[in-house]
Amino acid sequence: MLIAVEGIDGSGKTTIVRFLVEELRKRGYDVVAFKEPTDSEYGKRIRQILKERKVSPEEELELFIKDREFNVRNNILPALKGGKVVIMDRYYYSTIAYQGALGLDVERIKMLNEQFPKPDLVVILDVSPETALKRIKAKRRPDRFEDVEYLRKVREIFLSLKNNVVVVDAERDIEEVKRDVLKVVIEHLGESFNKDAKL
Ligand code: TMP
Repeated sequence: MLIAVEGIDGSGKTTIVRFLVEELRKRGYDVVAFKEPTDSEYGKRIRQILKERKVSPEEELELFIKDREFNVRNNILPALKGGKVVIMDRYYYSTIAYQGALGLDVERIKMLNEQFPKPDLVVILDVSPETALKRIKAKRRPDRFEDVEYLRKVREIFLSLKNNVVVVDAERDIEEVKRDVLKVVIEHLGESFNKDAKL
């Protein structure tokens, strides 16, 4: 079972992923979480270029794909083969939305990501760019990916994605968001495990 948690910066993804891991473990699931960009050499280069703004969107795209290849081969596939529930803090939906919002062709980005395992469930934490930026600014200085116009485009693309996607209103208090996400995930896990049991 592969679950991706997606959303613009400041949507609360990281808090929600941490919460999900804890709650699912309490319920006896063997669960692991991975984050993209990773800590691989590609991930480190990505973090560097996000600060410097020097490479083209196309080069950025290539790096995110390379980082994902690394993550799938070394982390995601082994965990899935070991029967674990895998929770992703960002996955290829982020590439579609963020690199798409830089002007790259969304269909081509989707195609380049078809080689990777498809999530069984994608939870999009939906928040307005204004709220997201307010949350970010309360903690630190926003970076290049974090201006209202850009985040508006990213959000629009996220909300246009359809397959296995559940959109959760993340404008609300985090406790309400947690409750809703957990409900969606538990229902999904129950369904798929029941389905397997019938085979
Ligand atoms: P993070 O803040 O969740 O660690 O992500 C770092 C930035 O990387 C964030 O602004 C979104 C961006 N990003 C992309 O542009 N494309 C991608 O494929 C991924 C995974 C992240």
